[in-house]
Amino acid sequence: VTTPGAPAPGVTAIEPPALPAGLDTPALVIDIGIVEANARRLGDQLRARGVALRPHTKTHKSVALARIQLAAGAAGITVGTLGEAEVMAAGGIDDIFVAYPVWAVGPKAARLAALHARTDLALSVGFDSVAGAERLAAAAGSSGRPVRVVLEIDPGNGRTGVAPARAGQFAGAARDLGLDVIGVFTHGGHAYRGADAIAGAAADEVSSLAVAADLLLAAGIEPQVVSAGSTPTALAAATGPVTEIRAGTYLLGDRIQVFLGASPPDGVAIAIAATVISTAVDGQVVIDAGAKTLTKDMPDYLIGFGSLPAYPDATIERVFDYHAVVRTPEGSRRPALGEVVTVIPNHCCVVVDLHDEFVATRAGEIVGRWPVDARGRSR
Ligand SMILES: Cc1ncc(COP(=O)(O)O)c(C=O)c1O
Repeated sequence: VTTPGAPAPGVTAIEPPALPAGLDTPALVIDIGIVEANARRLGDQLRARGVALRPHTKTHKSVALARIQLAAGAAGITVGTLGEAEVMAAGGIDDIFVAYPVWAVGPKAARLAALHARTDLALSVGFDSVAGAERLAAAAGSSGRPVRVVLEIDPGNGRTGVAPARAGQFAGAARDLGLDVIGVFTHGGHAYRGADAIAGAAADEVSSLAVAADLLLAAGIEPQVVSAGSTPTALAAATGPVTEIRAGTYLLGDRIQVFLGASPPDGVAIAIAATVISTAVDGQVVIDAGAKTLTKDMPDYLIGFGSLPAYPDATIERVFDYHAVVRTPEGSRRPALGEVVTVIPNHCCVVVDLHDEFVATRAGEIVGRWPVDARGRSR
């Protein structure tokens, strides 16, 4: 899709959020106006299809941003770890799906039990094995209330989830263990293989969920929740038996999403402010946002570890912990020593987790410094 050395197609078109002046760099900046517009857009599009939105909050790990999603009509939230669930529940969010096959042993069993014991919290948890379900059932122990579980189905992503044809068998086994099986879910992560993979991945989610939901019914289990989603597949998978979509990245957007056509060019709410700290070596400038700010995430269809919208010919070619080398071709415009530049990261979710807080802005004005509440809560 790309020519080595050339900016990746579609990516230079990003209209970045405006940076406030005087930031201490590197800084994570999130434009709340763009966040609100993104929250509303997908919420409205799904509402028009009669499908709920349960956004994955691992993208931002912020209670405040989750509240913006709920205010825009989200039906609850998704998280990826018990730690994220604990933080969101402590922040007052009362409907949480842990879309992950939690292996509930040791401290995790106790933590799951503590969350489950909260009668003010609607909690559900993923599973994709009978052994995992046994541990979830054991963790609920003497609570007298079954844990609500959702069976993960593999739509062809090849990560987690049982084959759709085996859904009845796994759901029945979990029910027999005393769990409350409320439905099935998929993650169409194979959409990230490239723009031409999105329609197929969405269709895979819908067809595998349809098979799985029918098999639950045949096993006497009502599939109340038929949950699909990723950001690229969010709209195309919102059809047929699907009752909810769990997109996450849509809220902040990033370079990958714009490249895939899943975020509009003005839908990127996240930016890194970085300073040019060296121009000593010919043909390049060096900025202070390295791998510990931008990560090393780079799909093979993108060139560079992020982009500089104001310098479309520049390529972030190499990253070290605290340096990024930006190649600037001969004759092209390049930023000056000391200049603060806007960098759009490739993948927002991992970038956010590298920061304690973000600078919340509206149209370039700072409105606060907001914590990344669930930062580092990867278990
Ligand atoms: C299980 C699950 N659901 C939902 C999502 C959200 O997808 P996206 O990041 O494409 O918005 C993810 C992301 O990895 C996921 O793993």
